[in-house]
Amino acid sequence: MEVLHYPETTFEKLPVTIFEDPAEGAVSVAYEIAELIRSKQEKGEQAVLGLATGSSPIGVYKELIRLHREEGLSFANVVTFNLDEYYPMQPDELQSYVHFMHEQLFNHIDILPENIHIPDGTLPVEKVKEYCLAYEQQIKACGGLDLQLLGIGRTGHIGFNEPGSSINSATRLVKLDPLTITDAAKDFIKEEYVPLRALTMGVGTIMKARQIILLAWGEGKAKILQETVEGKISDEVPASFLQQHPHVQVVVDKWAALELTRIKTPWLVGMCLWDDNLIRRAVIWLSLKMHKPILKLTDEDYKDGSLSDLLAEAGNAYALNIKVFNTIQHTITGWPGGKPNSNDTQRPERAAPALKRSLIFSPHPDDDVISMGGTLLRLVDQGHDVHVAYQTSGNLAVFDDDARRYADFALGFAEKLNVGVETMQQQHAEVVEFLKHKKLGEEDSALVQEIKALIRRGEAAAACRFCGVKEQNVHFMNMPFYETGQVKKKPLGEADIQAVVDILQEIQPHQIFAAGDLRDPHGTHRVCLDAIFAALGRLKGKEAWLDDCYLWLYRGAWQEWDVEEIEMAVPISPEELMRKRKAIFKHQSQKDSAVFPGNDKREFWQRSEDRNHATAKLYDQLGLTEYEAIEAFVRHRF
Ligand code: F6R
Repeated sequence: MEVLHYPETTFEKLPVTIFEDPAEGAVSVAYEIAELIRSKQEKGEQAVLGLATGSSPIGVYKELIRLHREEGLSFANVVTFNLDEYYPMQPDELQSYVHFMHEQLFNHIDILPENIHIPDGTLPVEKVKEYCLAYEQQIKACGGLDLQLLGIGRTGHIGFNEPGSSINSATRLVKLDPLTITDAAKDFIKEEYVPLRALTMGVGTIMKARQIILLAWGEGKAKILQETVEGKISDEVPASFLQQHPHVQVVVDKWAALELTRIKTPWLVGMCLWDDNLIRRAVIWLSLKMHKPILKLTDEDYKDGSLSDLLAEAGNAYALNIKVFNTIQHTITGWPGGKPNSNDTQRPERAAPALKRSLIFSPHPDDDVISMGGTLLRLVDQGHDVHVAYQTSGNLAVFDDDARRYADFALGFAEKLNVGVETMQQQHAEVVEFLKHKKLGEEDSALVQEIKALIRRGEAAAACRFCGVKEQNVHFMNMPFYETGQVKKKPLGEADIQAVVDILQEIQPHQIFAAGDLRDPHGTHRVCLDAIFAALGRLKGKEAWLDDCYLWLYRGAWQEWDVEEIEMAVPISPEELMRKRKAIFKHQSQKDSAVFPGNDKREFWQRSEDRNHATAKLYDQLGLTEYEAIEAFVRHRF
């Protein structure tokens, strides 16, 4: 789809550059920083950089390290000031920004230690004010910041300047917004452990920088980015103050850009080159905006909705309505494995073979049932040979106390049977001792990791039994990239891809289901999907069965496909929804409260049901049949 858009659109009040993926954006920003450092070097001057932590700048730091190692970029003339630090915080704690900066950048370059400045989270509170004044003075004494790198929080914070911060604010101690605390919980394991306060440069400090680069990656940032770039300047979104700065660049990937008007509703910005995809998006948008089913939209509605250009091209509303309505109707099927002996020209799946081998990849041990439990049950009920492949052990998401409980069980069982009691006592003591002294965020011992993996494996097996998946069709892949014992994972490796290749060759499926979380640049789901893409790439052209294999992408617990993207919509009856809920309940270690709940307070089964109800409601609003719930899929052509 090519859209003619006008970057000078009145909607955008900050210059935005959109990259295909975060790595490309990060490289371009790193080059710009390197350029600044070199030009300062030539003049015999220092380059004064304001630096950020968090996930956003990691790619930039990675490229700067590469430039240092491979292209001789020196940081000897660089002085840095970090935006912020949690308070209180000891520098040697895993979550400290001192630790982060050294691990991600400083340990790998030739910066002079005395040139590094990071707010000190160890100070007694009565010293903080004086310290903050001194921090400002130090920046001034270095001639001010040449360039400030920023991420953006979902509250719209820059640094830790939460909503309510004034444009003139200086370095100070602040309270963190509850949303920021929820987002930080992933680094602290639990929300309760996140410090409530932080030291941060002020908005005023940031605004004094001569140049500012704001980074945003991933769909999670899309909404706040749109408000920052297109909204009014307001202390409710502190990042919007950047609109008053003369030299800002906003660098984003295509997912963070999703809510910008030129991307989301390009017809509001200028002329469009209309293809089927864009027409479908526009008509669905109009139907929801006008609160009218598609088939009731009139020429007037198209004109009032800024779509007269599309109307002129199509002739009349009726032609557009019926075309889009039919396309959506054809996505609905109660036969996710294809309807045997039927005309399948307008159906999402093929009629033959009547009984298919279906392979469901599940990144964590519960994604299958959470995301497509209703469809899985249907596939089994309709007689297909359903396989489930659990890609990772998911051991990280098990509470310590559960590990301890199962260790007690194992010991009790050994004692009861009087088998291997001595060994078990030793192992049990080891587990108890380790857990007693485990520090916040510390990696589990190998034994504890093993117990946690077994817990999740048992739950997945139970859910499969409940759904009727044959025992020999349940596969545990334990992909190595995941096995770090930490939130941070290894990059995708050869062994990971080979594991996927092996299982594909073993099963030779007619259809594959995979978690299609394309929008999250960092998550485990994305890595698991990349492994599948890489494996399919290797087999393509070599394996005949692959020519006749469909790949369906489902969405994880966090989000659903946009209705205009859906290519297969599987209706779920109230009874099926209840069975799906029970299958999810088999994952007891994830119930009530999960180790990684993300920023959603609902349990997984609730999120999943809400999502499936919402899709059904959307179909209903567009004027299609009213269902209880719908699971949605997009087909990926490879
Ligand atoms: C970090 C900082 C914060 C982060 C923001 C986004 O030093 O000041 O403003 O930039 O919270 O965090 P990530 O990049 O982790 O999404």
